[in-house]
Amino acid sequence: MSDRSKHVCPVKRAGSLDNRIRRWLQDPQKILGPYIDEGMTVLDVGCGPGFFSIAMAQLVGKSGRVIAADLQEGMLEKLSSKIRGTELEPRITLHKCPDGRVGVSDKVDFALAFYMIHEVPNQEKFFDEVRSMLKPGGLVLIVEPPFHVSKGAFEETIGEARDAGLTPVDRPRIFLSKAVLLRKVPAE
Ligand SMILES: C[S@@+](CC[C@H](N)C(=O)[O-])C[C@H]1O[C@@H](n2cnc3c(N)ncnc32)[C@H](O)[C@@H]1O
Repeated sequence: MSDRSKHVCPVKRAGSLDNRIRRWLQDPQKILGPYIDEGMTVLDVGCGPGFFSIAMAQLVGKSGRVIAADLQEGMLEKLSSKIRGTELEPRITLHKCPDGRVGVSDKVDFALAFYMIHEVPNQEKFFDEVRSMLKPGGLVLIVEPPFHVSKGAFEETIGEARDAGLTPVDRPRIFLSKAVLLRKVPAE
């Protein structure tokens, strides 16, 4: 087993990531509504069981698309079973990340990385890849858990993102979180 797999949130904890209490504390529509419009193509990287992917699919509407990406097949299966047969199913593309990469070739307007960056062993490579997937002027929202990611570690993450060409434009307040919104620069 690699070091990385030791630190990835296991599928057996998926239930703690999608429940009514979390929805109340971290309302996905309220958190993401300001950044997602109908018709957009958006990415939920490290989507887990899809707590945010589902809200993203509602926000992009019929004409939009969500790429829900995770390195664990088991997490994607959880999301798949939630959307099967619903109007959201055709809007969500499930993507199994290949080892060490996100591996999405589409260009996206917005990317979300919620509670996952601290599980990524090579953040420099990760942010280079995320930047390459964003459309000009595209946004990425990074949200990390407040307790096991220190202030210093979070600032280091922002530094890695800056070095990759992502500029911080806001520090949204999200309950139980450290968060930063970044824009792809130059917005060519
Ligand atoms: C703590 S869970 C958070 C899930 C979801 N974002 C949420 O907030 O409910 C972290 C997820 O990120 C995934 N993950 C970790 N590293 C990843 C990587 N390099 N690429 C894709 N997914 C990754 C894990 O498999 C896990 O499902």
